[in-house]
Amino acid sequence: MPLPTPTRLYAQSFVPQARWRNDATSGRRPAEKDGDAAGRTLGTRRLAGPSACRLRPPEGESQAERGNAPVGRTVRTGPARPARTGWQTGDRRMAEDPAESTDAVSGAGGEADGVLLSCPDVGLPLVHRGKVREVFDLGEYLLLVATDRLSAFDVVFAQGIPGKGRVLTRLSTLWFGATAGIARHHLVRDGVDGLGIGAPARALLAGRSMVVQRARRIDVECVVRGYLAGSAWKEYRGAGTACGVALPAGLRMNERLPEPIFTPALKNDVGHDENVSFGALAARVGRDLAGLLRAVSLRLYGFAAERCAAAGILLADTKFEFGYVNGELTLIDEVFTPDSSRFWPADRHRVGEPIDSLDKQPIRDYVESIGWNLEPPTPTLPPDVVAAAAARYQEALRRIEGALAGVS
Ligand SMILES: Nc1ncnc2c1ncn2[C@@H]1O[C@H](COP(=O)(O)OP(=O)(O)OP(=O)(O)O)[C@@H](O)[C@H]1O
Ligand SMILES: [Mg+2]
Repeated sequence: MPLPTPTRLYAQSFVPQARWRNDATSGRRPAEKDGDAAGRTLGTRRLAGPSACRLRPPEGESQAERGNAPVGRTVRTGPARPARTGWQTGDRRMAEDPAESTDAVSGAGGEADGVLLSCPDVGLPLVHRGKVREVFDLGEYLLLVATDRLSAFDVVFAQGIPGKGRVLTRLSTLWFGATAGIARHHLVRDGVDGLGIGAPARALLAGRSMVVQRARRIDVECVVRGYLAGSAWKEYRGAGTACGVALPAGLRMNERLPEPIFTPALKNDVGHDENVSFGALAARVGRDLAGLLRAVSLRLYGFAAERCAAAGILLADTKFEFGYVNGELTLIDEVFTPDSSRFWPADRHRVGEPIDSLDKQPIRDYVESIGWNLEPPTPTLPPDVVAAAAARYQEALRRIEGALAGVS
């Protein structure tokens, strides 16, 4: 199905809601923490958001918008704070509740040695705690905070990577802006000023927070692969396919594919994400929506791969999440970060050889070198390994910032 032509540009407005300035659920009054002035200003200020083209949901997908289809549920709601010991996110185990490890060092949710493992009390209801992000309720909007938590092999480590949350946020913000002509996105603004959050917490959250439009999430990871790497390579070696997509014979590890392929995965509440064929995706979400997700994902990939190339980076693969906001298909979560993408320094790409990617690769290499069985507890990471991973994230940011300068 052809991608709908953008029909008009729109400007989003962010109008904070009275209900989270005097929130009955949490029993807290965030506005008071900042002083009343913050709350009063907030009630009247309209904050300009980004412009983007509109992507209408395809005909026949209104079920998902209505919320009675098996796709498109909102972000899971949970207890204000998850249980503090041995808790799990699906099967993605927290090796240790990060809140506990941070508490031990720096009080309830704080930055220790430049690492934020758990959010401080921001006076807002917590609606979801993912492997990396904490999501707070702002009514129509959500506050997404990227911590410095590190997850590898589906396990969240007791240690984090300094600066990681800020890199993820900065990159996502840049890419949302740069790709706004391709896909409508959820970002309203970055930063936490004017949300009634007290000064100490505000400083910890600075640079790692985004106010976003609350979406009805489509529970699909939209993966695009331009190179034959990771699990796709493993499958191809045995079956000659990558996530069910037939590929020419004779391709080698990390080789560029004849053309980028869309390999979706269903997000499961329990268990790992499940790679599915396009047909299975269409059976789940409807053929029109599946086609739209594929078309938008491929377009986004194509755009970013080109920009990354200008930064000396090969965008090996990446994944997107989409949802509905006011009935419109919207790019959500994070986009083109080292956590959602495989970035390879172009000058280190050798077909058939392992490639040192610009992400948490030093961590993966280290835990493999010591033969960790991938079960909690996570091993203690030596400082030089953590520093090497932190440097990769910074390097990715530096290069991409340069390549996106001037792109709007
Ligand atoms: N605009 C949005 N509306 C609703 N949910 C969103 C939005 N943006 C992101 N999310 C959700 O917020 C969460 C962010 O947390 P994080 O990135 O740490 O999750 P994760 O551990 O990678 O994935 P999971 O969803 O499986 O927990 C994700 O569940 C994501 O789907
Ligand atoms: Mg995520």
